[in-house]
Amino acid sequence: MTTLLDKFHSLPAAVFREETARLGIRPLGAVTEQIISPTEAIVDGHRVILAGTNNYLGLTFEQEAIKAAQDALNNQGTGTTGSRMANGTFAEHVALEEEMAAFFRRKHAIVFSTGFSATCGVSATLAGPEDVIMMDSDSHASIYDGVRLSGAEILRFRHSDPSDLDKRLRRLGDRSSRTLVIVEGIYSMLGDISPLKEVAALKEKYGFCLMVDEAHSMGVLGTHGRGLAEAMDVEDAVDFVVGTFSKSLGSIGGYCVSNCDELEAIRFSIRPYIFTASSTPAMIASTRVALRHLEHRTELREALWRNAAQLYDGFEALGFRLGPRIDGLGDQRSPVVAVVLEDREFALKSWQKLLEKGVYVNMVVPPASPSTFSLLRCSVSAAHSTEQIQKIIDTFDDVLNG
Ligand SMILES: Cc1ncc(COP(=O)(O)O)c(C=O)c1O
Repeated sequence: MTTLLDKFHSLPAAVFREETARLGIRPLGAVTEQIISPTEAIVDGHRVILAGTNNYLGLTFEQEAIKAAQDALNNQGTGTTGSRMANGTFAEHVALEEEMAAFFRRKHAIVFSTGFSATCGVSATLAGPEDVIMMDSDSHASIYDGVRLSGAEILRFRHSDPSDLDKRLRRLGDRSSRTLVIVEGIYSMLGDISPLKEVAALKEKYGFCLMVDEAHSMGVLGTHGRGLAEAMDVEDAVDFVVGTFSKSLGSIGGYCVSNCDELEAIRFSIRPYIFTASSTPAMIASTRVALRHLEHRTELREALWRNAAQLYDGFEALGFRLGPRIDGLGDQRSPVVAVVLEDREFALKSWQKLLEKGVYVNMVVPPASPSTFSLLRCSVSAAHSTEQIQKIIDTFDDVLNG
């Protein structure tokens, strides 16, 4: 007879934990013991350059944001103790919603407690049992979970393949106008960029609703940092933009912005909006400051892309196979720079050696990686110095080629 808990010994995460314990490493449980700056920390006893965060603009130590959070903590307390719909809507939440709407040049905005609740909650709510959701096959877990809750018919199209999307929409016939299409700006594992222009062009033919998760592209792409839709000049075609405050804004929380007037009615149908406590005043206050920095300090975006180019050039000179090159995604670049390795054990051991030699990156193995390969995933920050990027390149050379 099996027990309720037996299955937890054969889940991929359990197998991975056993495998890494055998090798004497713990990529899933590395502890940041001391955080020194946006780009340096002590992790598991090793002083490292942080090359595996999503701190794209390096704003986590922005003094003005810290001060605003401290003031909010002193003046408004540690938490709201209630959901947005009950007692948890403070003036700061409303102000941030107005500022998010203005930043994205949209009429409406909703602020959530986490990015996950925003992307999951909106995906679960926009389409219902009579509708269809057409999602990119490499979508984030929060989108996968959300669409399952929606009750809609769920169809996946081949990752970043507009012709496959076109084919599937054609098959839907009249139902294509009751379809929600979901894509992301920058995909977080390989760092590839969605072909949003081609996806947006299909709207005219099929009349679907388009949602874009700009979690990794807000602050990174577009002249003003509004993400891929701005960079590709297709903002009018995107009906709902969702994303997070936990990456380029360096705090925590999520959002949905839209020009659709229905968003105010939708707000009160999203369960992770209604049934969870709202974000703390301190988080909202630091996010508001970070948003101003993201919008006006274009030099941060320039530094980010300079650093990303340095890392790409360095890795390419060393002959590494980088994220978008697999899966036929071409040679596009972004601040997510993933080194692709075929040998899983070599990848795991290399992750540990990188840590010991002073570079922390993210370890990604299947099924978390969108392929049969393992990834040593780096993410670049505007706060990295040229010397730090060079040290990352040299350490990879030493560990993988040495
Ligand atoms: C594409 C994407 N969407 C949503 C989320 C959820 O955001 P958060 O971690 O801030 O809850 C993430 C975070 O990893 C993400 O990568």
